[in-house]
Amino acid sequence: MAKKIVVIPGDGIGKEITDSAVEVLKKAAEKYSLELEYEYKDAGGTAYDKFGTPLPEDTLEACKAADGVLFGAVGGDKWDNVEPSLRPEKAILGLRKGLGLYANLRPVKVADSLTEYSPLKPELVKGVDLVIVRELVGGIYFGDKCESEEFNGTERAWDLENYSIPEVERIAKLAFETARLRRGKVTSVDKANVLATSRLWRRTVAEVAKDYDDVELNNLYVDNTAMQLAVRPTQFDVIVTGNLFGDILSDEAAVIGGSIGMMPSASIGECTSLYEPIHGSAPDIAGKGIANPIGTILSAAMLLRYSLQEEAAAKAIEDAVDAALAEGWRTADLWHEGFKKANTEDMTRAVLAHI
Ligand code: NAD
Ligand code: IPM
Ligand code: MN
Repeated sequence: MAKKIVVIPGDGIGKEITDSAVEVLKKAAEKYSLELEYEYKDAGGTAYDKFGTPLPEDTLEACKAADGVLFGAVGGDKWDNVEPSLRPEKAILGLRKGLGLYANLRPVKVADSLTEYSPLKPELVKGVDLVIVRELVGGIYFGDKCESEEFNGTERAWDLENYSIPEVERIAKLAFETARLRRGKVTSVDKANVLATSRLWRRTVAEVAKDYDDVELNNLYVDNTAMQLAVRPTQFDVIVTGNLFGDILSDEAAVIGGSIGMMPSASIGECTSLYEPIHGSAPDIAGKGIANPIGTILSAAMLLRYSLQEEAAAKAIEDAVDAALAEGWRTADLWHEGFKKANTEDMTRAVLAHI
C-alpha cells in the first residue's frame, strides 16, 4: 500500500524548497520502487489569509493520519501584527504539540567539499558530526504567558518556563539512546547556575544517565556551549537541551555546516513524525527562486529513513547531495568564487542527476 506524505509548504521560500524536495523524493521513489502519495495542506500565514487560522483542523488531522509530514517554513513580516494566538508560527508550534513531537533531532555535519569554505576555520570544522536533541513541546515556549499587564505603575509582559521530571526524562532517554548508536557521548546543556528549571533538568538527566553506563555524560552551561561550538565543535556528539536553548544553539551550529540552508531536522514523538529544515521562511529571498533546498531535501531523506525505514533511498539522496556539492554547485548562501552558481532549480537538478 502507498505511504502517505503530507506536504506543508507554508510561507515565504516554503513552496520553493518543498517543491524541490518532493521532486527528489519522486526520483528516489522511482529508483527504489517505493509507492508514495503526496497530500498538500495549508498552514502558516497563507492558511491564516485563506481560513482565518494558521493551523486548520483539517491539516492537523491529515498529519495524524499520514506516514510522515514534510514541512517547509512559516512566517513573514506580513503577519507581524496579527493577534499573537493567530501568528503563522502558531502553525508549527500547534503541529508539534498536536502530534506530540517532543524531540527535535538537528544533525550538523560538514560535507567534505564544504569544509574548506566554512565560515569557521577548516581545521576546526573538519570531522564535525554532532546532533542537537532539542526538547520541542515544553519549556518557555509552551508555559503560561501574558502579553501585557499593569505592574508597579507600568506595563510588563511575561513568559513562564517550566519543565516536569517526565518531560526531561523522555528527552534524556532519547538522547542517551541516540548516543549509544553514535560515539557514546551526551552533553546536557542548561543554565543551572541561574534557572530552577535547569537545576531540575540537570538532576533528572543525571538520574537517567544511571541506566546508560556505556554513555559518557557531561554538563555545560548554555553560554559556554555557544562559545565551544565556535571554538571546538568536534568535541560534541549528542547535545541534549531544552526548547529555547536548542533553538538558538542549532542556528549557531548551522554556521559550521556552511549555511542554515543546509540543515535538516526530524521531529519525533507520539504520532506521525515531521521533517523540516531548521531555517525559516527567509522573507528576504522568497519568490526569487534562489533558496538553498538542501536542508529540505535532507529532511526528506530523514523521513525516508525514520518514518518509512527506507535506508537505501535515504542514503541515495544524501549521497546525491554530496555529489552535487562535490561537482561544485553552490546556491547563493554558499557562494564562493570559482564555483558553479546554482539557483533552487539548478541545485535540485544537480541532486536529481545523481539519484
Ligand atoms: P530565517 O531562517 O528565515 O532566515 C535567516 C537568514 O537565513 C535570512 O537571511 C535568509 O535569507 C537565510 N536563509 C534561511 N534559509 C535559507 C535557505 N534555505 N537558503 C538560503 N538562505 C536562507 O530566519 P528569520 O529571518 O529570523 O525568520 C523569518 C521568518 O521565518 C519569521 O517569520 C520566523 O518566525 C520564521 N521562522 C519559521 C521557522 C519554521 O517554520 N520552522 C523557523 C525559523 C523561523
Ligand atoms: C525553529 C523556529 C521555530 C522555533 C519558530 C518559527 C516557532 O525558529 O523551528 O527553529 O522557535 O522553534
Ligand atoms: Mn529556530
